[in-house]
Amino acid sequence: MNEIGMVYLVGAGPGHPELLTVKAVNLLRQADVIVYDRLIQEDVLDLGNPAAERIYMGKCVGGHASRQDEIDALLVEKAREGKIVVRLKGGDPFLFGRGAEEAEYLIEHGIPFDVIPGVSSALSAPLSAGIPVTHRDLASGVAIVTGHFSTDEHEQALDFSALSRMPTLVVLMGVHTVATIASRLIQAGREPSTPAAMIQTAFWPGQKVVVSTLGTIAEEAARQGVVAPATLVIGDVVRMHEKLRVAARELQNQTGEFSCAAPAVSAVDATFAGMTFTN
Ligand SMILES: C[S@@+](CC[C@H](N)C(=O)[O-])C[C@H]1O[C@@H](n2cnc3c(N)ncnc32)[C@H](O)[C@@H]1O
Repeated sequence: MNEIGMVYLVGAGPGHPELLTVKAVNLLRQADVIVYDRLIQEDVLDLGNPAAERIYMGKCVGGHASRQDEIDALLVEKAREGKIVVRLKGGDPFLFGRGAEEAEYLIEHGIPFDVIPGVSSALSAPLSAGIPVTHRDLASGVAIVTGHFSTDEHEQALDFSALSRMPTLVVLMGVHTVATIASRLIQAGREPSTPAAMIQTAFWPGQKVVVSTLGTIAEEAARQGVVAPATLVIGDVVRMHEKLRVAARELQNQTGEFSCAAPAVSAVDATFAGMTFTN
């Protein structure tokens, strides 16, 4: 019988290989198996052990539960074969990444694991557009929430009254619900003139930044064709965009052409996965 292996739940950051941690790169080099998600660039995988088995486990839209079961089972199976498994996840594994659930499953099945933090899009997507989430003069705090409401119950779980008073609000997975979020915040007392921005595919070539106000961001994002993955940021800090944005991001200029590693798994995913970008 094989000695039991090890699973590393590793944050891959917002996409660009230069935004991986050194620890993530070292683990990728040691990996026997790399299990990766949708928003992982080919260049990131190419830093890994060339002999490693690469397994794409991006989730199908609407198929989350069963896909998650498959991922959990796969991690256990590969570790039981004695393998070093790197489970690569976009951003940080413990922020809306189901990393904690995977860790719990590994514990239940007696599999040793470790978790490696990553650069989260919640902070780095605004940053990429020159928007700091806090600022001494503008915002003393930030809340990060999900905009993915699959049920009314999820939506009700968010306290829009409290959120409307947060200096900065960052919303992940909010492309389809931006209109609802904006109107709930306005109903709760937030000024429609509050600056708001959506940042699509931060640190990917083809990044798109839409700057508007809370009252108009949904309409403006739709008009400019914003699609997932995109991060919504609301608050006075958005005013810093003009001053702090970087004209040409050096990171993106350093690679020539690369493509998303993930195969298109659904019509929605296909808008992003499998696209080839040229700088
Ligand atoms: C399932 S959540 C995972 C978040 C991830 N664990 C993190 O810490 O960044 C996916 C959401 O993160 C945001 N996101 C991920 N990558 C992004 C990027 N490159 N640019 C903008 N937003 C991104 C989007 O809101 C997307 O819908």
